Parts: sequence; C-alpha cells; structure tokens
Amino acid sequence: MKILVTGGAGYIGSHTVVLLIEAGYEVIVFDNFCNSSRESINRVEKIVGQKITVFEGDIRSRDDLGKVFSSNKIDAVIHFAGLKAVGESVEQPLRYYDNNVNGTVILCEVMEKYNCKSIIFSSSATVYGDPHTTPILESFPTSATNPYGRSKLFIEEILRDLYVSDNDWKVILLRYFNPVGAHNSGTIGEDPNGIPNNLMPFIAQTAVGKREYLSVFGDDYDTPDGTGVRDYIHVVDLAQGHVNALDRLDDFSEVMTINLGTGKGYSVLEMVKAFEKASGKKVPYKIAPRRAGDIATCFADPSYAKEVLDWEAKRGIEEMCEDGWLWQSQNPDGYLTKS
Ligand code: NAD
Ligand code: WQD
Repeated sequence: MKILVTGGAGYIGSHTVVLLIEAGYEVIVFDNFCNSSRESINRVEKIVGQKITVFEGDIRSRDDLGKVFSSNKIDAVIHFAGLKAVGESVEQPLRYYDNNVNGTVILCEVMEKYNCKSIIFSSSATVYGDPHTTPILESFPTSATNPYGRSKLFIEEILRDLYVSDNDWKVILLRYFNPVGAHNSGTIGEDPNGIPNNLMPFIAQTAVGKREYLSVFGDDYDTPDGTGVRDYIHVVDLAQGHVNALDRLDDFSEVMTINLGTGKGYSVLEMVKAFEKASGKKVPYKIAPRRAGDIATCFADPSYAKEVLDWEAKRGIEEMCEDGWLWQSQNPDGYLTKS
C-alpha cells in the first residue's frame, strides 16, 4: 500500500515514516519544510536503509499535490502537515487558519479528485479545552481557547461532514496527548526553532547547557506538587498508533475519534527529576507565574485505542527521558549538528 505522509519531515511524521516502512508500507513524504529540514529525511533513510520519495510542496497548492497524486496511486494519507505553536496562533490567527484549515480542505479536494478517500488526521488533546475531570474520554465535550486548537476542532468537523456527504471516506481522528522522546537510535527527534515552547525540549536544552534554567509555569495548581500534570507519550508509541490505525482503516464504518495517550499524568517537577536521572545532568529551574491558557491537569483514558486499534503505549517515563536525552546530547544543535 502506498501512503502519502504530509508533514513527514517533522517530529512525529519522521518517526511514523520509520515505523510505516518497517511495517512494509510504501511511503511518500510531502512537506514544504517550513518547520523541518531535509536532514531528518536523510536520517530516516539511514535508519530504514532505503531511499524515501519526497515531494517538496505546500498542502495549500493544488498543483503541488496534483504532482504527487497524478504520478502515484495513493491508497491513504496520514496528514501531519500543520502549524502547531499555540502562542503564535494567537498572534497570527489567519496564518493558522489558512495553513491548517484551508490546507486540509485543499488536500481533501485533491484526494477526492484522485479517488483517494482514506485519511488519518493529527488532532490534539487541546480540543478538550479545560476538561471537567480526568482521565479524558473521547466523548468529553470539546472547546478551544486559541486559534491553533480551534483549527483542530474545525478540521475534525470538516472531516466528519465529508464522511456524511460520502460514506466511502475512511476517517480516523487521532487526538495526541503530549508527544516526547525520540527514536532510540538518537538520530531523529524534536528540533524546535528558537526557544522551545514545550516542556520537554526546554528541559533537554537546559540539561545540555543551551539554556540557563527552566521556568516552571506555576506551582499553585490543584495538583499533588502544584505544577501542571500532563500525559507524556513516547513519540515512537505515538507513531505505532498510526500504523495500527492504518492497518485497521477498512474495518471501520464511521469516523473514528481516538485518544493516543498513556493514561498516566506526570507533573512538571516529576519530569524534571526523571530527566535529571536519565541524563545524569542537573536541570536548574525557577518557579515562574502561570502561563496564560494553561490548565492544571490533562491525561487520557486510552482504553478506546486499546479496544479498536489494539494499541497501547509501551514506553514509560524513563525511556521517554533516556531517548530524549540521547537525541539532545548527540545533536545539541538539532539537525544542524554535523553527523
Ligand atoms: P512539526 O512542525 O515537527 O511537523 C509538521 C510538518 O508539517 C513540518 O515538517 C512542516 O514543515 C510541515 N508543514 C507545515 N505546514 C505545511 C504546509 N502548508 N504544507 C506542507 N507541509 C507543511 O510538528 P509535529 O510535532 O510533528 O506535529 C505533527 C502534527 O501533529 C501537527 O498537525 C500538529 O498540530 C499535531 N500535534 C502535535 C502535537 C505536539 O505536541 N507535537 C500534539 C498534538 C497534535
Ligand atoms: C506542559 C507543562 C506547562 C514549558 C501543548 C499544546 C497542545 C499540544 C501539546 C499540539 C505545562 C509546563 C512548559 C516551560 C513549564 N500541542 N511548562 N515550563 O501546554 O500541555 O500542550 O503541546 O497539539 O496543544 O498546548 O504542553 O509542553 O507546553 O507544557 O513549566 O518552559 O509544562 O505549564 O504544565 P501543553 P507543554
């Protein structure tokens, strides 16, 4: 089966490409490299021992997409391409709606034109807003507090509408919790531009000496140690969730909405400790004010994924930190580090 992976050069996409190829799928990567580098593809090629077909293009361009679909019979699309920085989305809402929402509409139009009607979409736990309780089930109400989150909600609805209009579509919406860690080769991983927004890359860069200290955003939440609690999931487990979803795509006769998380929550300070243990490095931190828009606690009930995808996260917090450290210590400057 030939799978088009949009955003396949990015953090989650690159790990998923590895697992797809290892599972025997034929993969084509489509990416405009606005938030990634070709080096990630070079590294993936080394891991899997084969060349990857890459189309450089933008999902908002019918011409770019047409080049792929007219020259390949694509069986399904895994759609990672999108912008993902929450703060930036508040400052540049139109850019986020254009890239994420408009881009997905155009992708689906082109898919339809070429009679490819199977899509797995990267949604996010952010669509649960501030959940009334945890663990979070797929049936919980959704809401968004920023344009990034709203773009995910809109896309989910658009894909549901598409299915209603034509039941030949196969749609799986995967709601990721907090992806962290890296492939255990230490050669691919998360490579944020500039100062990381997310906790784990910030911790990793502090441990490697690139940042002086971590600001812990709030220690007065209603959590065991006062710091925010999240469901961190190893990116390789997350990638495996996509392979399982693809394997079962034809089994489903409705739009599937599925959490991909571990079901366990860890606080910011627990993550700091775990990372210090895995790396043998100190991670200095200071308590700072709460970050606007943050919630106290967020973790999944992952039982639906187990039931319908036969998937569950296998890697614990130690492995997340060890693999994250391997990537960071071997690549202090991310993909700009000479290999
Ligand atoms: P990433 O930025 O590393 O990867 C996204 C990739 O998409 C990049 O390679 C980028 O160059 C590409 N891209 C962006 N816009 C494009 C466009 N218009 N045309 C073609 N390519 C384009 O991000 P990631 O962490 O790998 O996330 C992948 C997906 O998962 C995103 O949709 C993101 O919103 C979603 N997600 C991520 C997280 C997370 O914490 N990392 C959590 C939940 C959901
Ligand atoms: C985790 C915890 C922070 C940085 C975001 C998006 C979400 C999803 C995943 C895409 C929180 C604390 C963080 C720092 C800190 N992305 N923190 N100091 O906010 O759960 O989710 O990424 O879909 O949509 O909102 O992840 O890693 O930013 O924060 O104390 O420098 O770490 O307050 O408690 P978050 P995060």
